[in-house]
Amino acid sequence: MKSADELRSIRYQAYEAGALDRADGSKQDIFPHTLHPDDCDYLRDRIAELKPARTLEIGCATGLSTLALFEGCQIAKTTPEHTIIDPYLRAGWGSASLVLLERTGLTGHITLDERESVVALAEYVGRTPKPSFDFAFIDGCHWFECALTDLWLTSRLVSPGGVIAIDDLWMPAIQRALEYATGNLGVEIIDTRSRGGKDRIAFLRVASDASKRDWQFFKDFE
Ligand SMILES: C[S@@+](CC[C@H](N)C(=O)[O-])C[C@H]1O[C@@H](n2cnc3c(N)ncnc32)[C@H](O)[C@@H]1O
Repeated sequence: MKSADELRSIRYQAYEAGALDRADGSKQDIFPHTLHPDDCDYLRDRIAELKPARTLEIGCATGLSTLALFEGCQIAKTTPEHTIIDPYLRAGWGSASLVLLERTGLTGHITLDERESVVALAEYVGRTPKPSFDFAFIDGCHWFECALTDLWLTSRLVSPGGVIAIDDLWMPAIQRALEYATGNLGVEIIDTRSRGGKDRIAFLRVASDASKRDWQFFKDFE
């Protein structure tokens, strides 16, 4: 696998170009959808501290957040088993991330699940044995119900003590979903990142098993 420095250099070349190659040879613009370079660096640094072995990413788009995650693991000298859930990488993004991940030699370390996250995650939860992850990064569908189900279902798949990160905290839909999750799903915020006066990424620790709640339990959120 490429070193962390090589992965970083490929990532920064993409930012400078503002585009990636699609599978058909045309160009795929990366802005404004890709995770901002500074936020990617932050993600990478946190991953390097966490040293996760089994990782999950919901919403891959350009693949640059994926590169940052692998950079962090390379710094920590670990190679994760990484699962990406995204149904639109081919039709919506011209397979640009798939081309990038192939060129960077990461494809062999990645399981790609091309279903909507709600479908894929619910199926994982029902699987025997149930897959479990040390780290999950949520940056998929940004509607409230998607963010909420992504948080709920990943909190059932990330082992207690593991970490979930969610992007785009500045969006009211994400804020509401996060408020519900911290009040009701046994996750606690351990770090947040702001940039340009806006909250961006929250890191959450899966602290307890939410299935142990009393059946009447409900912490309101607004
Ligand atoms: C903001 S982009 C992710 C950006 C990515 N982290 C990057 O650095 O390029 C959102 C992604 O979520 C994906 N997406 C949209 N709806 C989804 C769903 N229901 N389940 C999983 N992924 C979804 C889109 O295809 C898109 O790739």
